[in-house]
Amino acid sequence: MSSHPSSPTPAGHSSSVQIPHDPGRLPMTLPLLAEKKRLGEPLVMVTAYDYPSARAAEAAGVDLVLVGDSAATTVLGYSATTPVDLNDMLVLARAVRRGLSTPLMIGDLPFGSYEVSDEQAVTTAVRMVKEAGCGAVKLEGGAEAPVSRARAIVGAGIPVMGHVGLTPQSSTALGGWKAQGRNAKAAARIAREALALQEAGCFAIVFEAIPAAVTEELMPHLEVPIIGIGAGPATDGQVLVFHDLLGIRDGLGPRFVKRYANLQEEMNIGVQAYAEDVRLRRYPGPEHTYSIDPSELAELRELLR
Ligand code: KIV
Repeated sequence: MSSHPSSPTPAGHSSSVQIPHDPGRLPMTLPLLAEKKRLGEPLVMVTAYDYPSARAAEAAGVDLVLVGDSAATTVLGYSATTPVDLNDMLVLARAVRRGLSTPLMIGDLPFGSYEVSDEQAVTTAVRMVKEAGCGAVKLEGGAEAPVSRARAIVGAGIPVMGHVGLTPQSSTALGGWKAQGRNAKAAARIAREALALQEAGCFAIVFEAIPAAVTEELMPHLEVPIIGIGAGPATDGQVLVFHDLLGIRDGLGPRFVKRYANLQEEMNIGVQAYAEDVRLRRYPGPEHTYSIDPSELAELRELLR
């Protein structure tokens, strides 16, 4: 595929946002997503926060890329997702945009950017589309207020992904980073929230940290694609955080993470080897240096005298 952003922008996107064009693959659309669900084809979603992570997602041919507010912890070093703001998210989403051509790019609405009113939510979502080229946005929660925000954004013509179960922006209120819906009443609330988000027009919903058996019970009641993270195998697709699946973090992370690489260790080893080479004067070697014609060097010596 082309490594340079080149194509014109699709309708609805600001002309300042360039979307790279890959002639070999169809861009993911909402009808295509719904069709994949109908055919029972597993949907693949991953988070990305910058150009290289976007390129990795593109190369793997994933269906959906989420510029998650998990960026707060994975790339910005906060201990929770709440501190990340809209400007941070726009910078990250623009970098991801430059690396993606085919997956549907979804921008997470950060905490504080949509809670105040439907109007605030629409304004934020419009900025994610116009200024960063997001094809859709995601918001957390399925209570009355987030459902109203989702409806308003959909009404403004922007596709919305919902998110129920463990919603990290409200983890304090949920009693910490732990599985949700572990009793009948709590599981029924998740079902009500998911149905309300679907009814509000969400094109898909993330189920996070929900018992697999609960997910299995809820799936037949939902028509839109359900993407799970720690919600078992019954969902239409799975999402993992880029840094969790590649081991770019300290510690193992949540129980549901499967680690496919250990890049933090690789990075540590690489930087340590470089530091040692510099200290022992093993780097740079002759192969890393530029040459100058000896006559020019002689003239320089004269000039310096
Ligand atoms: O921000 C994020 O990465 C997410 C996923 C865990 C779904 O919301």
